[in-house]
Amino acid sequence: MKKDKKRILTGDRPTGKLHIGHYFGSLENRVKLQDEYETFILVADVQALTDNFNNPEKVRENILETTIDNLSAGLDPDKCTFVVQSMVPEIAELTVFYSNLVTVSRLQRNPTIKTEIAQKKELFGNSGESVTYGFLGYPVSQAADITAFDADVVPVGEDQLPLIEQTREIVRKFSSLYGEDVLTEPQAILSKNTRIKGLDGGTKMGKSLGNAIYLADTDEDISKKVMNAVTDASKIKKDDPANPEVCMVAYYHKLFSKDNLDTIFEECRNGSRGCVNCKKELIKNIINKLEPIREKRRYYEQHKDEVQKILEEGTKKARKITKETLKNVKKAMKIDYFEE
Ligand code: TRP
Repeated sequence: MKKDKKRILTGDRPTGKLHIGHYFGSLENRVKLQDEYETFILVADVQALTDNFNNPEKVRENILETTIDNLSAGLDPDKCTFVVQSMVPEIAELTVFYSNLVTVSRLQRNPTIKTEIAQKKELFGNSGESVTYGFLGYPVSQAADITAFDADVVPVGEDQLPLIEQTREIVRKFSSLYGEDVLTEPQAILSKNTRIKGLDGGTKMGKSLGNAIYLADTDEDISKKVMNAVTDASKIKKDDPANPEVCMVAYYHKLFSKDNLDTIFEECRNGSRGCVNCKKELIKNIINKLEPIREKRRYYEQHKDEVQKILEEGTKKARKITKETLKNVKKAMKIDYFEE
C-alpha cells in the first residue's frame, strides 16, 4: 500500500493512568508529530499481559483509560489511528515467524530486558521462574507491532531504544534470509525529557510511592502532592537562602514555569522566596498547563462510546495494512501455499 506521508507506530501498555512523566516523555512529542506523520497509536494489551497475565481485568479496564489519556493530551482522532493490539491477529502471526530470527541469548542481553529481569529477580527471588517465555519474547512481538504497520519511525523514550534496535536487527535478518524490500527498518525518534524525576526526588516518576502527578489528577491532588514535595533540607526559616539544584519544586518549575525561571532561582538562592509561596506558584502553573488536558478528559469520560468507536474503527483500518504486510511476509518466506 502506498503511503502519502511517512508513518509512525508507537504505543503504550494499558496498565494504569498516565502521568506527567509520560506527557513530557512521549505524549507531547506525539502531539507535535501527528501533523507531519501518519500516526498509529497501539494500545498494547498483548504486551501488557506478558507482565499481567494473572490480572487480565486490569488490562481490560485500562484500554479505554490509556486511549482517553492520549486523546486528552491532544492526539486528534481525525489525524491518528488508535488500535487494540490483541484484535490484530497478524501481529501474533508475525511474532511466531520472527521468533526464529533471534536467539534466546540475544534477548537476554537486550538492556531493557536485562534490567526488567533483574527487577523481577529482586521481587521474586533468584530462581528465574518469574521470567516466562512470553515475557522474554516481548521484544519480538514489539518488532511485529512496528513492522506490521510498515512504520518508518517510532517516537519513544530512552528506555525503549534497545527494543527499536532489536526490531532493526530482526528486519535485517529477515531481509537477508527472505528478501529485501518486504520490511522497513524503522528509526527511533527520541523525546527530550524522558526521565522526569518524582516529587520525592526519586530517580524516576513512577506509579508507586505517590511521587507522580497524573494527567487525571484534581486540583486538590496536585496541591497535596506539591505541598509534600522534597525541598532543600538545609532551609529552615522562610527567608533562609537555599539551593534550588537539590529542590524538587525548583526542578518542576523548570518544566512548568519557563517564563519566570530566572527570578524563581534567584529568589530561592538569595532567601527572598519562601517555600510555601514557591509551591503555590508551581501548583498554579501545573493546574494551568493540565487544565486543557483535563477538559478534554471530562469530555471523553462522558462520551466513552465515542472512544470505543475510535478504537473499533481504528483497528479495522489498521488491519487493512497488517493483512497486506503478513501476505508479503508469507510470500517472501515461500509459505503462501494457497489463498484462504
Ligand atoms: N514497550 C512500550 C512500553 O512499554 C509499548 C509498546 C508496545 C510500543 N508496542 C510498541 C512502543 C511499539 C513503541 C512501538 O511503553
